[in-house]
Amino acid sequence: MASEDKAQRVRRMFSEIAPRYDLLNRLLSLGVDLSWRKRAVALALERQPRRILDLATGTGDLALLLKERAPEAQVVGADFAPPMLALARRKAEAQGLKVEFLEADALALPFPEASFDAVTLAFGFRNFADYEKALSEIHRVLTPGGRLVLLEFPPPPKGAFGLVYRLYFGKLLPFIGGVVSGNFGAYRYLPESVEAFPPPEALKALMEGVGFKVRYELLTFGVAAIHVGDKV
Ligand SMILES: C[S@@+](CC[C@H](N)C(=O)[O-])C[C@H]1O[C@@H](n2cnc3c(N)ncnc32)[C@H](O)[C@@H]1O
Repeated sequence: MASEDKAQRVRRMFSEIAPRYDLLNRLLSLGVDLSWRKRAVALALERQPRRILDLATGTGDLALLLKERAPEAQVVGADFAPPMLALARRKAEAQGLKVEFLEADALALPFPEASFDAVTLAFGFRNFADYEKALSEIHRVLTPGGRLVLLEFPPPPKGAFGLVYRLYFGKLLPFIGGVVSGNFGAYRYLPESVEAFPPPEALKALMEGVGFKVRYELLTFGVAAIHVGDKV
């Protein structure tokens, strides 16, 4: 699929599922995504960043958690799907948290070099049409010594657990997601995009290729992974 097609398709898809996105996240991960997000936030705040960008922020869960844990930091959430951003703004207001949410494409970030001390990216990277371009953009907007924290679903692990997980992710999840959101295509896309995603070592190499010093950890038997890239 051409890059432009993928971007348009992804943008339309997330715009369509936005109203049910949070509910389905909690439901389909059985609430486990919250513990993954907390770990990502702890890693992002390790070096006490003053300016943080939550990229592909969606409905803003990670951005809001960052602001809650580091009230003194300036947190910006960016996404290219306006309906997701509208929900994020509503949540920030309801929670009394001051986070700026703005429309931006991860492949062409509207920020000058060295604008942020940390960038977080949860379940967004997989959707990007050009991984290297996105990583270069993130690297550009980070300050020297700045940190990227990337939370994603690697391809399912091997063995018996992987088999069960594939059954859940490939069959049950698209069905529940389709029924609840009314968009079967979006929840069929999820397991497809996960299978096509680079395994943790390959992602590490991609990040190193644009100049990050990288380590990663696997969460919940390898269902999720967090890559930490420091700009050296
Ligand atoms: C699965 S959601 C993740 C949202 C949020 N980070 C979370 O953890 O719930 C993926 C988000 O990435 C956004 N996205 C995908 N490609 C993008 C791009 N090129 N630029 C900006 N946002 C993008 C989508 O609009 C969507 O809101």
